Amino acid sequence: MLSGLFLTLLPLFRLDKRPRSYPAHFPEPLYRTGSGRQDSLQRELGRALFYDPLLSADNSISCASCHSPYNAFAHTDHDLSHGIADRIGKRNAPALFNLGWQPFYMWDGAVDHLDMQALAPITHPDEMGSGIGEVLEKLRSSDLYPFFFKEVYGDTLISSERFLKALARFQLSLISADARYDRVKQGKAVFSEQEQRGYTLFLQHCNSCHREPLFSTYGLAANGLPPDSTLRDYGRYTLSGLPQDSLRFKIPSLRNLAYTYPYMHDGRFTKLWQVLNHYSGIKAGSVLSAGLSGPLPLQADDKADLLAFLFTLNDSTFVFDIRNQYPKNIFARDEGKGR
Ligand code: HEC
Ligand code: HEC
Repeated sequence: MLSGLFLTLLPLFRLDKRPRSYPAHFPEPLYRTGSGRQDSLQRELGRALFYDPLLSADNSISCASCHSPYNAFAHTDHDLSHGIADRIGKRNAPALFNLGWQPFYMWDGAVDHLDMQALAPITHPDEMGSGIGEVLEKLRSSDLYPFFFKEVYGDTLISSERFLKALARFQLSLISADARYDRVKQGKAVFSEQEQRGYTLFLQHCNSCHREPLFSTYGLAANGLPPDSTLRDYGRYTLSGLPQDSLRFKIPSLRNLAYTYPYMHDGRFTKLWQVLNHYSGIKAGSVLSAGLSGPLPLQADDKADLLAFLFTLNDSTFVFDIRNQYPKNIFARDEGKGR
């Protein structure tokens, strides 16, 4: 009976028939996604899981607690992430979009496949503090998921592979490609004179690392920030132990900066002008990767122009896309049923 009920709710998923592909000025992604009904359902399953606090030890924290849709899936109320029992993490939660173009994840590139990434927050004691076995058990005994999995995969088996692939599928659908910059590239808009000046400065000083159109090479680099005195996070070095990796962090995309503050791996800057002042004030002896060799020669006017250009990378179509938000329809029907 429950199964029948669930099936009648399926139209509520509003299966997404619109193309979710990327525009012609984007390169080929590294990940391929399927298409059709099963693929859309798998995405909806991943979306439900992403917003479900059942994934944490005390059912209090979901992925979206730290990766909010209104912040381009970053979070803005803290510099460092907050997990179960208000435990404080060591890094700023990055924004999640255009993940299918990235060869590795995390600020130090520690995870090299998106399917595996979710295991890190689920098991991290300061994040969700749970375990994959524990989560799968909870999913199996819920009223919702056995039927949901059956709808997607043809039977009620809830395995870690299916679970992880669904989460990854949802996240791969988070594509930000409709900022003003993209419209200019598609010939649907033109830059103002100031934006154009900012774009020229950007290409000169920033593009080697924050490469258009994704606004990152998604490689690792040191941008001259001194290590902070409390966390002493040396980025990739902490993982590899290689001196040349000292202070190398994954280059973040510059899309959606209006929504993703605070900035940098430790959230040390809350304003973009602080970031620009960092680049124009890099101290002698700072650790720098190719693309930077010292303070950038940016005057106040140049910074204003650069900011005007950076604003063209904010993609409100993406940030307010209801298809990516909390799946009310799925959870509303399920409330009070001891999910
Ligand atoms: C307590 C806050 C918190 C929760 C909950 C959380 N994350 Fe994160 N997430 C972070 C932080 C912090 C990082 C950066 C970690 C690092 O660099 O070491 C991160 C990194 C990521 C990345 C890598 C992004 C990139 O650009 O490299 C992905 C993908 C991600 N999280 C997805 C998820 C998913 C899926 C869940 C739920 C299963 C989740 N997160 C739950 C805080 C959180
Ligand atoms: C040598 C490569 C390199 C160059 C050149 C470079 N950056 Fe960065 N940028 C980085 C890295 C690496 C980070 C992350 C550092 C960290 O978190 O510690 C970063 C972080 C940022 C951030 C924070 C984004 C976020 O989401 O936290 C902004 C904004 C930024 N850069 C803007 C610029 C601008 C504007 C320019 C040109 C004036 C520029 N960058 C030039 C490598 C570079």
